[in-house]
Amino acid sequence: MMRDAANLDRAACEAMDLADPLAPLRDLFVLPGGLIYLDGNSLGAMPKDAAARAEDVVRREWGADLIKSWNSAGWFDLPVRLGDKLAPLIGAGAGEVVVCDSTSQNLFKVLSAAVAMRPDRRVLILEGSNFPTNNYIAEGVAAATGGRVSVRLCEKDAIADAIDETTAAVAITHVHYKTGHIHDMAAITARAQAMGALAIWDLCHSAGAMPVDLNGAGADFAVGCTYKYLNGGPGSPAFLFAAKRHQGVSQQPVTGWWGHAAPFAFEPGYRPQGDVRQFLIGTQPIVSMALVETGLDIHRSADLAAIRAKSMALTDLFIQLVEQRCAGHGFSLASPRAAADRGSQVSFAHTDGYPIMRALIAAGVIGDFRAPDTVRFGFAPLYVRYADVWDAVDRLVTIMDDAVWQSPEHQAREAVT
Ligand SMILES: Cc1ncc(COP(=O)(O)O)c(C=O)c1O
Repeated sequence: MMRDAANLDRAACEAMDLADPLAPLRDLFVLPGGLIYLDGNSLGAMPKDAAARAEDVVRREWGADLIKSWNSAGWFDLPVRLGDKLAPLIGAGAGEVVVCDSTSQNLFKVLSAAVAMRPDRRVLILEGSNFPTNNYIAEGVAAATGGRVSVRLCEKDAIADAIDETTAAVAITHVHYKTGHIHDMAAITARAQAMGALAIWDLCHSAGAMPVDLNGAGADFAVGCTYKYLNGGPGSPAFLFAAKRHQGVSQQPVTGWWGHAAPFAFEPGYRPQGDVRQFLIGTQPIVSMALVETGLDIHRSADLAAIRAKSMALTDLFIQLVEQRCAGHGFSLASPRAAADRGSQVSFAHTDGYPIMRALIAAGVIGDFRAPDTVRFGFAPLYVRYADVWDAVDRLVTIMDDAVWQSPEHQAREAVT
């Protein structure tokens, strides 16, 4: 929504914050003073409860109760219990989601399951410009079929037409990591299934930032991470969704003891669980997994429609302010202009994107850079304020007007961008 430029100033942004129904939730997060954090799409901010939860898991559950905690603290059931908590955020039902492993590993499991479910098909379709791990994992899955299956990479507008009777599965990231473009989950799923293929979704950039309706779309499988908009903490375990109809029917190749029908029977041979636990492999990182719950509890208290409405308003505001106040400085919008087509992030292309982002970070505005030329800003609706958007652009204006980004200390590349 474009606002009247003449009336747009910091006071107007503060007024929007006052009217924001999500505003009280910001107080549930640790946010260092003076910093404007626009990278919650990469690593979400820390819930205030996380430190106490970590201390409890370490001191009491591990330190005092030791191995008893597998039962008494419910450690063994955490993947399923947290999966059930996460399910409503992504339109899944109870017993359809487990929290475990990484997104890359979970994608390997569900892609392999899909390939096994379509033994007469030979193509996996993914988006070429997707976050690379997805396409690398698909290559690995294809290689493991000994040449039966190959990967076909398409760009967004070509995906639907590429799906045909040779397609085993389509594995698409719902919100593009670089541009923020949202794919039509229902349409692509319907097209895939009409052609006899399976539809797999990566929700890394959607879960927690907008309502997602996996079952409404009829999705077959999904994966995603909990460390971005779900605030689970650095490297926190990911999630995996398997539609009820595929559980106990499909097979995934990483057949570890946590996915066994009777893990504590210690049988010599593998027998899969008949439910979503068949997608588990082995022992989980319990400290990290326990922290996922602190983020999920906040999200479960928030209205997803309000999250989406604020996300669209924040990103619209940012685009409008950058285009007005940094006009002539060489930024071009790399995200969809229509809010309905955009996730909770905004990217601009700029030939000097890297030093500009370094200068912004030095000025206390944290976004990130994606090669070759994209500056990316994430707007986590639970803790980013409209006034933050104003202040971030204000600092960007100074960096551009005074050519601050040209100073030598902003040119050197760091290992993680
Ligand atoms: C679309 C997408 N898939 C997967 C990942 C990461 O996977 P992993 O957690 O296994 O490193 C990312 C990380 O940003 C991502 O953007």
